[in-house]
Amino acid sequence: MIKKTILLTGANGEIGHTLLEELTYSGHSVVAIDLQPLSKEHEALCEEVIVGNILDEDVIRAAEKYDINEIYHLAALLSTSSERNPELGHRVNVEGTLNFLQLAYRVGKRIGEAVKFLFPSTIAVFGIPSLEDKIRIGKVKEDDCLMPMTMYGVNKLYNEHLGRYYSELYKRLSIEKETGYIDFRGVRFPGLISAFTVPTGGTSDYAPEMIHAAAQHKPYNCFVRPDAQIPFMAMPDGVRALTELAAAPAESLTRRIYNIGAFAPTASDIFDVVRVSFPDANIVFKPDVNRQAIIDSWPSDVDDSAARNDWGWEPKYDLERTFVEYLLPNITRLYSSYEL
Ligand code: SER
Repeated sequence: MIKKTILLTGANGEIGHTLLEELTYSGHSVVAIDLQPLSKEHEALCEEVIVGNILDEDVIRAAEKYDINEIYHLAALLSTSSERNPELGHRVNVEGTLNFLQLAYRVGKRIGEAVKFLFPSTIAVFGIPSLEDKIRIGKVKEDDCLMPMTMYGVNKLYNEHLGRYYSELYKRLSIEKETGYIDFRGVRFPGLISAFTVPTGGTSDYAPEMIHAAAQHKPYNCFVRPDAQIPFMAMPDGVRALTELAAAPAESLTRRIYNIGAFAPTASDIFDVVRVSFPDANIVFKPDVNRQAIIDSWPSDVDDSAARNDWGWEPKYDLERTFVEYLLPNITRLYSSYEL
């Protein structure tokens, strides 16, 4: 294995924790960025932790001194948070990404090789006008229904194009060779479910929130209807998707952005599985009209055949395995240690 220097933004976030562990256990050197300091255990895994805002030039400069081979740019304001403050969402999601694309370009030029830029895009880039259409359309392909209904979805779809632009077209009128310094690749994540962290400010949060509340014997008001349906994925599969896409040979890739799927339960399917493990779970469905409308605009599932064909994507966890093998053992340990 060649040891790489990897820049990880949003290291303290939902995906960041698991990805940081995965990358460092694989022997790579990680420079982490987050608004909040990392736990002592996570900090100890990193080459350096830069605590600060991705919009801050000092933060960019501090990261730029490293000869970075790969960037996982996870920092973002999720869909519900961005709907509540669209301008802030735009700044963090678009300007933040632009900052790191520019950084990748400068580092790539300095070290004379392409920096791989791994981007977590989202099912929020899709926008389906009505529930009837959603049911009729079923699984969406990458280039279908790209009419996002949230600031977050608009930002992420635009970022996908920015990534392509910086990889293939940036400064194409200049005399010097300017392209080839960034190799931008992304997956469109479904809702992610982690045993260790609960997301903040997302609209797919009802699934992880329901599960973590039940494990702590806390009541939970689910903010979508029982029939609400979008794709979900267990966090280990999500992290593996990013690292496998990063490792795929460029010549096998036919696109820069890939759908990835795993399972597509309704909220009531999740409720049923939760109740098997936590029969006393106190969960009530109290839909919030606006958050429900966002979920209704996202597809019920995705067609991920391009990822399967090009780089061998295959999820290991379906809904049942996610619960039995991943969530239950880890979540029970997590909350029982809190009770000690
Ligand atoms: N999980 C994200 C959100 O709910 C969607 O990808 O905002």
